[in-house]
Amino acid sequence: MKANTEFVGRLDIIDKIDDVFQPGVPATDQDSLGATTFTILGLSGIGKTQIAAQYMFLRKEEYDAIFWLQADSTVKLDGDFKQIAIRLELETQELSTDSNLSRDLVQGWLARPLKPMTPAISSSKTPGPVMARWLMIFDNVDQSSILDDYFPKHGQGNVLITSKDPRIRGAYVHRAMVTLPPLSVTEAVCLFRKMMKFQDHQGSDQLMTEIVRKLHCFPLAILHMAGIIRSQRLSLPGFLKLYDEDCSRQEFYSDDSGLEAESIHGYSKRLTSLWSHDTLEKGPFSILSVIAFLDPETIQEDIFLTDIKNIPLHGFPSSPIDYRSALNHLIELSIVTVHVDRTELSTHRTVQDVIRTQLHDNIMHVKEVFKATVHMLSSVWPYAVPTVDGSYQLHGRRTRWDQCPGILPHIGSLRHYFEGAEHKHKFATLKFATLIMEAG
Ligand SMILES: Nc1ncnc2c1ncn2[C@@H]1O[C@H](COP(=O)(O)OP(=O)(O)O)[C@@H](O)[C@H]1O
Ligand SMILES: [Mg+2]
Repeated sequence: MKANTEFVGRLDIIDKIDDVFQPGVPATDQDSLGATTFTILGLSGIGKTQIAAQYMFLRKEEYDAIFWLQADSTVKLDGDFKQIAIRLELETQELSTDSNLSRDLVQGWLARPLKPMTPAISSSKTPGPVMARWLMIFDNVDQSSILDDYFPKHGQGNVLITSKDPRIRGAYVHRAMVTLPPLSVTEAVCLFRKMMKFQDHQGSDQLMTEIVRKLHCFPLAILHMAGIIRSQRLSLPGFLKLYDEDCSRQEFYSDDSGLEAESIHGYSKRLTSLWSHDTLEKGPFSILSVIAFLDPETIQEDIFLTDIKNIPLHGFPSSPIDYRSALNHLIELSIVTVHVDRTELSTHRTVQDVIRTQLHDNIMHVKEVFKATVHMLSSVWPYAVPTVDGSYQLHGRRTRWDQCPGILPHIGSLRHYFEGAEHKHKFATLKFATLIMEAG
């Protein structure tokens, strides 16, 4: 998780977290209090993850150890705990096989987080061992019960949780919580200006205010609408006109009873008309369709590129150059983000929801996208192939264990989709079954 250089506002929330965590106060050897928890609750796209990332970035000097965990599935939590155990040198890559053990080792360290004895520390006047200050962030706790096995039960660190599930209220001890409101109008205009890449003199404040108000100062909507304005080269009045027309057409879907309806139903339906296969070209739309089935946080571009000539999906780019230009379109629209090193992408879950909803109108097409996604994941999954002499030869370029953790969440995401699908038999191919089996 990297700091967002475009981050705006939210100082009030950062202050609230500081009040509870009190960074800067030295850690002690007493466990009696347990971890101090702060939960950021709110709708998808309202900016929870951004605040957690910003907090981590702002306060990194105050902590000896910070852990960022993807808490939307136990597969990812297990993977993250394992990585932490290895980073803390509680176990080694080769010996780490049992996820319960990794978890217990990490929990043990969190309960009594001894700092390594450097000469400076050992000669200091304070007697006894020195405790590390730690911050653990669980991002996207979508079901309140998922943390039951992972929440640090002992130890005096800070736990920051982001969740859209109101049932999380009351689930964890020492709780402090904020239900995140949308941005203030001033913050929203500031975000819009940044997303439009406007210079100081550009953009009328009055028009920008009108636009962000229509978008309920909802950060994700501002990001996406600014992407549309830029990529379609619309003027601000031109956009307002289009948007109003679109709203009146879409009224049918949304009862407009406030932000909830707006952001979950109305918002998605409205975007549908702008990211659909009618509006987007085949290349960008087919990439987006595949992305809708993957884990949104970290999408390795290798997945698309490894076997790009043979992807069984109509309209999917067939060369790296075509892929790049199709992808650029999605980036321009701000619906897909490329990480700095340019080998990983990410998107927001709301984008995936919108695209999946669209795809659902055509089950044959969903099936084709699903199959193509399985094909792509199989092309990067390092199958162990038995060789004649009985040993295992590794299929793929890197070593099996380096590559697995990154691909696993995508297989998990496909499996999750499969389990909820209405016409399961349509998706159950041998290739999919093999992938699921390999992933354990
Ligand atoms: N304070 C902020 N400053 C700048 N951009 C923001 C801010 N809050 C949200 N965003 C934008 O909105 C998007 C969605 O926010 P995110 O934190 O991922 O939402 P959530 O975690 O609540 O679903 C982000 O990718 C970012 O582009
Ligand atoms: Mg989030």
